[in-house]
Amino acid sequence: MAAEKKVKWKDALAGRLDAALADEIDAFETQLELRRQDKVDEKVFAETRLRRGVYGQRYDNGQRHDGVAVRAIEFPSASLTKGPDTAWDAPGMQRIKIPFGGVTPEQLEVLADLAEEYSDGILHVTTRQDFQLHFIHIEDTPDLMRRLGAVGITSREACGNTVRNITACPIAGVCSDETFDVTPYSLAMADFLLGHPDAQDFGRKFKVAFSGCAGKACGLVNMHDLGFIARERSDENGTRRGFEAWVGGGLGTIPYDAKLFEEFVPVEEILPLSQAIVRVFARLGEKRNRARARIKFLIARIGLEEFKRLVEEERAVLREDESWSNWVDGATAEFEAEPAGPRGEVGAVTDVGAVTDVGAEYGRWARDNVQGQRQHGYSVVTVMLPLGDMTSRQARQLADLGSEYANGRLRTTVEQNVVLRWVRDDELPALYLGLVAAGLATAGAGTISDITVCPGTDTCKLGIASSRGLTAELSRRLREADDKLDESIRGLHIKVSGCFNSCGQHHVADIGFYGVSRKVAGTTVPHFQVVLGGQWESNGGSYGLAVGAVPSRAIPLVVERLSDAYLAERDGARTFNEFIESIGKKKARGLLEDLMPVPAYEDGPEFYSDWGDPREFTMSDLGVGECAGEVVAQTDFDLAEAERQVFDAQVLLDDKDFDGADQTALRSMLEAAKGLVRLENPDPGQDPDSIVSEFRSRFYDTELFFDRFAGGKFAQYLFHRYEQGSGDSTGEQARRVVEEARLFIEAAHACHGRMLEKKAAESQAS
Ligand code: HEM
Ligand code: SF4
Repeated sequence: MAAEKKVKWKDALAGRLDAALADEIDAFETQLELRRQDKVDEKVFAETRLRRGVYGQRYDNGQRHDGVAVRAIEFPSASLTKGPDTAWDAPGMQRIKIPFGGVTPEQLEVLADLAEEYSDGILHVTTRQDFQLHFIHIEDTPDLMRRLGAVGITSREACGNTVRNITACPIAGVCSDETFDVTPYSLAMADFLLGHPDAQDFGRKFKVAFSGCAGKACGLVNMHDLGFIARERSDENGTRRGFEAWVGGGLGTIPYDAKLFEEFVPVEEILPLSQAIVRVFARLGEKRNRARARIKFLIARIGLEEFKRLVEEERAVLREDESWSNWVDGATAEFEAEPAGPRGEVGAVTDVGAVTDVGAEYGRWARDNVQGQRQHGYSVVTVMLPLGDMTSRQARQLADLGSEYANGRLRTTVEQNVVLRWVRDDELPALYLGLVAAGLATAGAGTISDITVCPGTDTCKLGIASSRGLTAELSRRLREADDKLDESIRGLHIKVSGCFNSCGQHHVADIGFYGVSRKVAGTTVPHFQVVLGGQWESNGGSYGLAVGAVPSRAIPLVVERLSDAYLAERDGARTFNEFIESIGKKKARGLLEDLMPVPAYEDGPEFYSDWGDPREFTMSDLGVGECAGEVVAQTDFDLAEAERQVFDAQVLLDDKDFDGADQTALRSMLEAAKGLVRLENPDPGQDPDSIVSEFRSRFYDTELFFDRFAGGKFAQYLFHRYEQGSGDSTGEQARRVVEEARLFIEAAHACHGRMLEKKAAESQAS
């Protein structure tokens, strides 16, 4: 008997995928094969896969520290790589784009199958409404993409230097505060920009968000490259829909507030305006120095007025495109109409929490996870996913519950949860029981225990400290203490990132944390910087400031300490960030100062390991990151640290701590110089004298640091300030040193960029 022929997904799904998408996936599969045969350069292949959402993952360089030493992990394909320093068979991550976070039950079921068959059975919701699957083998990705394509999902441009997922309020269309439902507009934008030829040549990623109102957090417009807030304008001809447009926001090492670009952009203008903006970004944005390549730096460099002028100029010459507006007329129709069906009139439940015959926990769940819709008789239910994760089994159960109770639609949120909308109030208890059976009925959505967190050291190569380990511990403690927590504490937001890159959005939390490390008596100890006073509301309206690093093991005490101080010292209805502002950064730091020292190993061995990781802490696992395709070397970290320090110096200056500002600015220059020295001497040490002298001999005397226009001027800032030694600073002097430090760090970035280029040219020539 002939062997049974295995049906290929490509054949099985033929005709069910959009033809263009099917071709793209075939082309990707061919590139994969060529790379396997070593016929495509690894860097080129890396950018190709990133543009399809196929990312690297921690330990994919084939090395892992087991607590004693770095060991090699054996992978079958030996030296074959899928990017610089990224082993072919090493598990990787697949990011899956979910525009405005909208998924159908059918899509969720396919995601569940994929997680089970190709990954570790976990679906992870990201901080920008995407899904991620981890521990994927590169060779499974084309089929995975086909199966997604067959249910209308693409992973195209989920990573890489592209327009990333377009986010929007998860309760758009059912929210009482919104001006109008932004869903159709965000979808039109996602369709328009996906694969758009004008959006293919960026130096860095580009993120767009939509918000239905200015006051709530949902859209987080303030931290986006391009953001839209719904507006209406009335005149004698009636009421028109449009958007307030904001540009140049972003998190990352140094967060930037978005700037108002236009108070009212009519809806038919949002696509051409975006096209003009991405064209200016593609043309003038930095390409070589990735650390300066987001649009925020372009706008800061040329100024908002000039940027606007360029965009208007670009807009004026754009060739008319019917896809700019052929969708507009349909956009005012209800995106999700009220469910019709045989269930009769919606019930007249007035107190959705009062039903108790489904268990004692129901009331708590209803209080936290249920909110009334604008439409009478319906509610939105938030399904809280601890760490943003659910299992395949849970996802299937959720898909069923979505079909049964929620009008057949679900949305992911930037707080890494899922919301069900259009749930009839009188069916809430039944839905609740379904969620209990799925293990998805945890109360506390939107409260202090609902913590946002990046992937961190679990799977991210750049992770410094375990953001997920810390978050699991904090959430557990906060849930246990829930009954005793004051309402004002319950309402706080905590967000955690594993490093300064802010993927966990720690800047827009009441209490944010990002992973850092400190050397203590020759041993590295995991720490978190404590970031206070960020604003979640008002679209992430303002950013918190770092007040100091605390050992990871002491972070739960930080939360306790800050909550106690807030309760004891706030007066009246002041919010937490008003409280932090009122006590000032120094006093806030003072509250935590005794938590900062690390005990000797004998007195606290747990301080020397990370949450959820039994190994003794080490930084040896820190990989070469894949931040949208480019390798991130240790020098990048030094430069980022220098930036953070000069930022701190600025804050000290604002606090009128002139000596502190001056000293910190000097330290930031030394840090940047160290980063450069490291390019030639891998172990530059910490001694300032030797850093300055090495910097002088390797970069100044050789003129490597020289700028085409300014010559060695910026290096002189460091030499001059260093030779001065310490002394009392006046405000004016301190301000100058801070400014100079900024320029020095800029020049260090530029010098680094030049050296990378030179290296690339040399390797091409050889
Ligand atoms: C230098 C490199 C990186 C920078 C500067 C960076 C920066 C950011 C920032 C600021 C966000 C937050 C929200 C936003 O504005 O989108 C974000 C999102 C995110 N980052 Fe990173 N990131 C880097 C690398 C990575 C890596 C290596 C991983 C893990 C593999 C990662 C995982 C994430 C995730 C899961 C999100 C949510 C993304 C989404 O769904 O679109 N990031 N990143
Ligand atoms: S914040 Fe750092 S550790 Fe967390 S995902 Fe981003 S790059 Fe990785």
